[in-house]
Formats: sequence, structure tokens, C-alpha cells
Amino acid sequence: MNHFWSVWAAVGTIVFFVLMVLIVVKYWRSNHKADKDRVLDTFDGIDENDGPPPKLLFVSYFIAFAISFGYLILYPGVGSWKGLMGYDQANDKLSSPTTTLEQEFTGLTDDSLLALAAEPAIVNSGRILFQTHCAACHRDNAQGAKHFPNLIDNEWLYGGSDEAIIHSIELGRNGAMPGWVDVLRPDEISKISYYLASLNQRHTDVPEIKVQLGKELFIKNCASCHGDGSVPNIETGVPDLADNIWLHGGSIEEIQHTIRAGLNNVMPAFGQQLTKDEILAIGAYITKARIDNNSRLARLDAASVERGEYLAMPAIVSLATVQRVENHLRAVYRLSLLLALFILRISRPM
Ligand code: HEC
Ligand code: HEC
Repeated sequence: MNHFWSVWAAVGTIVFFVLMVLIVVKYWRSNHKADKDRVLDTFDGIDENDGPPPKLLFVSYFIAFAISFGYLILYPGVGSWKGLMGYDQANDKLSSPTTTLEQEFTGLTDDSLLALAAEPAIVNSGRILFQTHCAACHRDNAQGAKHFPNLIDNEWLYGGSDEAIIHSIELGRNGAMPGWVDVLRPDEISKISYYLASLNQRHTDVPEIKVQLGKELFIKNCASCHGDGSVPNIETGVPDLADNIWLHGGSIEEIQHTIRAGLNNVMPAFGQQLTKDEILAIGAYITKARIDNNSRLARLDAASVERGEYLAMPAIVSLATVQRVENHLRAVYRLSLLLALFILRISRPM
């Protein structure tokens, strides 16, 4: 901020603050003139009287003014003045790590993701970068959603080696499959979907012959990429269709929709936006999250998994999500309070 704008902002802030105080003081002084027995207006048999606003309102205003005044003196808020505390955003330990990534990487000899996942500072930097660049699609906890793969299970479309993961982030990926709506008849698509359900040992009450016909159709049309359905290919991102993990939905209807419409699933390339170290840090974070997830799953005994208790795992809704929602609610609450007070003000005749 150059000098002119700094002065401009400072004058604006001070004038606005003084104005706000004066307005509230004006109402406070005229408050005793209000008469709750005087009728201002009558509508539909309901009287509107000239009662004074509650004292609490003024008290809260003056408390808020006192706090704001203290804040403006202690912290940056008036133009480019830093305030008496000399606070600088760069020292904010909550929003940024205390060291740079470059410092965190110096002295490290092994830059495999597994080794980096054991460095808390790097994992933490990776976590912050992930929230900024990846969470919108892969969710805060990296567990993904429909169309966006889970990055912390042990299933990979393109393989889980360091090279494959870094390739995915640096250069992006594009999982493409043609749509079959113009090639196959609806009943053929249905038969193929029954065959895929049977691969997952799912019971449909469809006659076995339809499943057999579905298999023949699948081998004829789909085997060039999918083999018999249970053959993944990490070069082209072809998934195993027999493992009951469905990126695009596993119900019969969803499978049929996928076959009809085809797929063009894009993971954007980040090589231009992120440095090599940043990509490694994100990879370290994902790897650490996967290791933690694996050990959490290993701790659950098989019986509780069977009973469905794993659903209660804390990772389902991460703390970051809860905090974000909380912040939004708080902002909305503040705004609506201001709005309500404003409406109260202007709707009261002078
Ligand atoms: C715009 C949404 C979007 C964003 C943002 C995004 N991704 Fe992805 N990502 C995808 C999609 C979609 C796929 C699956 C591509 C496919 O189906 O071929 C994917 C796939 C991947 C894969 C390969 C998974 C596998 O199973 O092989 C990795 C690794 C990955 N993303 C990491 C990241 C990281 C790290 C970031 C942040 C730097 C990120 N993604 C940001 C959408 C996104
Ligand atoms: C050109 C190669 C190719 C052919 C031919 C092909 N597929 Fe695919 N298929 C893919 C790829 C690649 C993906 C993964 C796309 C992605 O990244 O999400 C896929 C994904 C799918 C999925 C989604 C799996 C999930 O996890 O949700 C289904 C279902 C499917 N294919 C069925 C078929 C059927 C049925 C046929 C034949 C009628 C077929 N495919 C033919 C390449 C192909």
C-alpha cells in the first residue's frame, strides 16, 4: 500500500468509527424521550408503541466499540500502521509453517515419499498445500468422492509407486472411455451390467443366461481395454471392475449410465503451479495419511468391521470440515445480527 492509499484508508477508518459512535450516542441520548404508552401506528388492531430499545443493546454497542478501539491501537487496521504490538502476518504460526519448504528439505538424503512421510514438518506443509490445491476435489481428508478417487486407500488407478503418484500430480491424468449409447442396444447394456454385478458376487434375480450373454457382449466390445473385467491397467487407468470399488457409482443404474455415456475424468496438471518440493511434500502428506489409515483399519477387529462399526471412524468427517462450517456459520450469524439491528434502526420513526 503506498502512502496516499494508506492515509486514505486510515482517514476512512477513523471517520467511519467516529460516525458510528456518534450515531449510537445520539440514539442513547434521545432514548429517555421514548414513551412506551404513545401509539405511533395502528394496523389490523395491533398498536405500534414508541418503547425505548433495550439498554442491553447500547451496552453491547459500547463494549464492541471499546474492543474495536483497543484492537485498532494494538493491531494493524488503520492504514498501513502496524499497531503497538508490531504484529506481522508473516509471524502467524497458525496460517503458515515457521520454516520454508527449502529449509525443511535441506539435509535430507532420501526423498522417497515413504521417507518424507516420516518428517512431520514436511507432512504439515504438504497438508496445508493439499487443503489449498486438492481438497476441493479429493476432499479435506483425501478420501475422495464419486468421480474423485480416494488417495489414501491402497487402490490406485495409475499405480501407487512414487513415480506414478508424482506423475499424476505433475502432469495430470485423463481417464477416458467412449460412450456406448450409439453402439449397443439398451438390453445389451443391461446384460453387460448384470455380468459386471456377477463379477462382484452380487446377486441379481436375473436368469443366468442373461449374465452369460452379458459376458459375451463384454468380451466382444470391452476386452480390448478391460480384459475379462478383472484386469486393471495402470498405464491407461483402466480399473479392476471385479473389486467392488466403483469410482463412478456401483449400482446397476449407475453402471449402466457409465456404459451409456462413457467417461472423461480429468485430473488437472499441477506442474506449472507447484514446485518439485511442494509436490513431494503433498506426496508425503498423502503417504502419511495412507499409513495412518492402514494402521487404523488394522486395529479394528474383523468382527466390528462386519458389524459396520468402522462407519464410526473419526476420519469420516474431518476436523477441518467442522471448523470450516463453524466459521461460515459464525460469519453468517454476525452479518444477520448487524442486518437485524440496522432494520430495527431504520424502521423506527425518529
Ligand atoms: C478438479 C478436480 C481435481 C483437483 C483439484 C485435483 N484432482 Fe487429483 N484427480 C482428479 C480426478 C477426477 C482424478 C481421476 C482421474 C481419472 O479418473 O483418470 C484424479 C486423480 C488423482 C490421482 C491418481 C489416483 C490414482 O488412483 O491413481 C492422484 C495421485 C491425484 N489425483 C492427486 C491430486 C493432488 C495431490 C491434487 C492437488 C495438488 C489433486 N489431485 C487435485 C481430480 C482432481
Ligand atoms: C478404450 C478403452 C475402454 C473400452 C473399450 C472400455 N472401457 Fe470402460 N473404462 C476405461 C477406462 C480408462 C476407465 C476408467 C476411467 C476413469 O478414469 O474413471 C473405464 C471405466 C469403466 C467403468 C467405471 C468403473 C468405476 O469404477 O466406476 C465401467 C463400468 C466400465 N468402464 C465399463 C465398460 C464396458 C461395459 C465397456 C464395453 C462396453 C467398456 N468399459 C469399454 C476404458 C475403456
